[in-house]
Amino acid sequence: MSDQNADPNTGQIDNVLHEERLFPPSADFSQQANIASMSDYQTLYDAAKNDPDKFWADIANQEMHWFKPFDRVVEQNGKDVHWFAGGQTNMSFNCLDAHIAAGNGDRAAIIWEGEPGDQRTLSYAQLHAEVCKFANVLKKLDIGVGDVVSIYMPMTPELAIAMLACTRIGAIHSVIFAGFSAEAIADRNNDASAKLQITSDGLFRRGKTLPLKETVDAALEKSRSVENCIVLKRAQNDCPMTDRRDHWWHELMDGASPDCPATPLDSEATSFILYTSGSTGKPKGIRHTTAGYNIWAKKTFQWVFDWKPEDVYWCTADCGWITGHSYIVYGPMANGATCLMYEGAPNHPAPDRFWDIVERHKVTILYTAPTAIRAFVKWGDQHIEKHDLSSLRLLGTVGEGINPETWIWYHEKIGGGNCPIVDTWWQTETGGIMMSPLPGATSTKPGSCTKPLPGVVPVIVDESLTPVGPNQGGMLCIAKPWPGMLRGIWGDDQRFTEQYWSTYPGNYLTGDNARIDNDGYYWIMGRIDDVINVSGHRLSTIEVESAMVSHPNVAECAAVGRPHELKGQAIAVFVSIKDTEASDQLRDELKLHVRKEIGALAVPDDIRFTEALPKTRSGKIMRRLLRDIAAGREAAGDVSTLEDFSVLAKISADDES
Ligand code: WTA
Repeated sequence: MSDQNADPNTGQIDNVLHEERLFPPSADFSQQANIASMSDYQTLYDAAKNDPDKFWADIANQEMHWFKPFDRVVEQNGKDVHWFAGGQTNMSFNCLDAHIAAGNGDRAAIIWEGEPGDQRTLSYAQLHAEVCKFANVLKKLDIGVGDVVSIYMPMTPELAIAMLACTRIGAIHSVIFAGFSAEAIADRNNDASAKLQITSDGLFRRGKTLPLKETVDAALEKSRSVENCIVLKRAQNDCPMTDRRDHWWHELMDGASPDCPATPLDSEATSFILYTSGSTGKPKGIRHTTAGYNIWAKKTFQWVFDWKPEDVYWCTADCGWITGHSYIVYGPMANGATCLMYEGAPNHPAPDRFWDIVERHKVTILYTAPTAIRAFVKWGDQHIEKHDLSSLRLLGTVGEGINPETWIWYHEKIGGGNCPIVDTWWQTETGGIMMSPLPGATSTKPGSCTKPLPGVVPVIVDESLTPVGPNQGGMLCIAKPWPGMLRGIWGDDQRFTEQYWSTYPGNYLTGDNARIDNDGYYWIMGRIDDVINVSGHRLSTIEVESAMVSHPNVAECAAVGRPHELKGQAIAVFVSIKDTEASDQLRDELKLHVRKEIGALAVPDDIRFTEALPKTRSGKIMRRLLRDIAAGREAAGDVSTLEDFSVLAKISADDES
């Protein structure tokens, strides 16, 4: 969502108060659902809240393989939380071996479609064999428990194979979205002390080949800890290979043994780290563990997606984000689900690619992002009307709030008016979905993520930490530990404490504002920190600013989010320059600079040159003022003129005092 969220007392609340449409689940859907009524939900919710030890012990014993049973369910000492202490399990085992043992080895695990149209299906037995082989490859390169493996790959089955091979042997994966720059990869590799890099010769995007390996080469020049690099041949793109350091995936796999028993790992062993933006310039490595994360991903997948073994489930996210970790790999696969995986862009070769995929593969559950849905709306209904989407029975959204009109369009045009929509609220930090409708039980309201899942105890407080009443915005916190919660920030315990645990001691601070309506439904109102949500991806303003300021002609700058029709928010940067004149050329150069420093997704949409930045008397940049200017601006005027926002600032400062 956008700037309107910045102030809980403005637009958003009025706006949603008028949103009275209610969509109860159809009798047909409820009849076949895993959780079929609100009273079933309430029973589960109360059981989890009243006796979390028993609730989670039962689930853990039923749903997970334990090499060694756990002694205790949950222990909390402030920010230090342990789930299933004393136990040993393995995520890769729970996602693969368990299904083979249950006789489901022939079930399709991944139905993959490459952007050029090539297709592969891997059964659970085949996926298991590939994962075991690759785990043996990792071992040969001296990767073992606790070593960090950095993965920068296209959306191919090998990306999932690499992740599952790491967790099989207790190596910690750090997946970096394949749109990040060499600088960003190097930063993350250094922060994590990554020992191995995995990448590919290229990536297909809208018919072009992007040279991933060249980017990785530049990153590895600065990644001192990385000893080896494995390169998947995907795009038949000639790429340089460095002797001894670089190895072809297929050569290493050739002759690798498919026998690799899963390593029993402590419940609290780190399974992966995933870098995400915070309110400071340095990305933080969110640390997840083994047993709790695995259970949370598995159980929330069942609850929210009403999953049945016959379903063909498609999550359109990239594995470079938490949604791909939890709802392409670990959640669905822990259940033995059949997952569709697509490599490329939604509009290649034409804007109907998604609907073509849904029709051909008879997708039953579709989980995508509001930013994508807004693009589909814009591209026009004709691309949808060409296709038979009647296989769909459930739709989901994630990553940002969905505007009610977009919700209605999704419901009618994609869902044919009869698929429930699950608007799922959660974060990289939460490991899995925290609030969402249960599609057979909850009546939905467009724009609301409705109610917390069993095990989630939210509280909304104002600045004095007093719980707010209905329809009052406040900071959304989580009062009780849940199995999928983050356990730390890699290498930065102090930041972990400050960021999440010190505002409201004993409670996890989500960083989002929210309110509850009169029916107890939750409405997320955007971030309380300086994070911009571009196309559902989190970027911190300071990260963008730091990248800009590293350009020799930038004296000072401020990045803010502004509403954007397709992306949710776009980045606008106000720049005061030095030693040069403002020009279009400089603007392009700055955009290129940010692309190089962070990656394409952080490139500002607007760059506005200013004599000076508006500041408060204490010297704080007046971000709210800049947000207003950015939101209200007309199309770029005379680009070579310097605007002087400090005048405006003076006016506002006078108003304030
Ligand atoms: C926002 C993505 C409203 C929110 C899984 C959160 C949402 C941040 C929703 C986390 C939703 C995510 N409604 N806002 N359904 N889902 N958000 O870590 O601000 O990439 O804190 O995790 O996205 O983004 P992240």
